Amino acid sequence: MYLNHFGFTKHPFNLTADPSFLFPSPQHREAMSFLFYGIKQRKGFLAITGEVGTGKTTLCRALLSLLDDRVKTAFILNSNLTEYQLLHAIIEDFGIGASMKNRMNLMRALNSFLLTQLRDGNNAVLIIDEAQNLSSSQLEQVRMLSNLETAEQKLLQIILVGQPQLRKKLDSKGLLQLRQRIAIRFHLYPLSRDEVGAYIAHRLRVASRGVPPSFDWKAIDLIYAYSGGVPRLINMTCDRSLLAAFALDTRTINAKIVRASIRELEGEPELTAVSAG
Ligand SMILES: Nc1ncnc2c1ncn2[C@@H]1O[C@H](COP(=O)(O)OP(=O)(O)OP(=O)(O)O)[C@@H](O)[C@H]1O
Ligand SMILES: [Mg+2]
Repeated sequence: MYLNHFGFTKHPFNLTADPSFLFPSPQHREAMSFLFYGIKQRKGFLAITGEVGTGKTTLCRALLSLLDDRVKTAFILNSNLTEYQLLHAIIEDFGIGASMKNRMNLMRALNSFLLTQLRDGNNAVLIIDEAQNLSSSQLEQVRMLSNLETAEQKLLQIILVGQPQLRKKLDSKGLLQLRQRIAIRFHLYPLSRDEVGAYIAHRLRVASRGVPPSFDWKAIDLIYAYSGGVPRLINMTCDRSLLAAFALDTRTINAKIVRASIRELEGEPELTAVSAG
């Protein structure tokens, strides 16, 4: 609705993990270079953890869009799979045609695919998102995949991505073997006050044909206080504020607009509950 009015070509504050919006904050940049380094150096296991809504999935999608076609990738989003299904999903996402009868066949097919990639000078990366939901036995299955190696090289680089529970899981006693194999760990934190302002401006710019509407500094203070610097919450607040600004026919979003929008966001569950009842 407010898209045309403000001259946006796409929604500036969508909640999807669209990599074209990636705001390269220092820590997102650092995480990205760790990932590139780990993949290039064939480090085997890497782990990215971070608070809810801090940009882990967006980072993965950005990584996938930046890797060249010499790096074969599989991206697993659904962690609600049995060990067999997980292996099956990995094989399918790599585009390997295999007889899917049993785990042994699948492992053999994956191994031979990875050896072919190595021979052709390619690399292979498996990203498992939402890895905090993986059970110990699924994680054990993933660890087995890291055994696929030659005497000199890891054949498969595995990136585990998840919320802070993943960090806890990895630190638990039962997963010592897995933990010892993780070469690089990185934790994403919410954005700082200054980064919140830059983040909002960045998303507005990416979505805009011309000069986008703007948030004044008090509005940004308030968004920072409310969101704690978590991008998903920033997006929700900004989206609501733009809608209000549209209704008020203004291009400058001030603290008053943001405050009212936050109130609406906070009140919404009750309203929904009432109308649903
Ligand atoms: N660095 C960033 N640049 C641009 N947008 C971002 C960034 N980080 C997060 N976002 C935005 O915030 C929202 C949440 O991001 P995302 O889904 O990647 O978070 P997440 O850490 O994977 O969340 P969850 O913990 O729920 O899996 C998305 O709309 C995403 O586009
Ligand atoms: Mg995510």
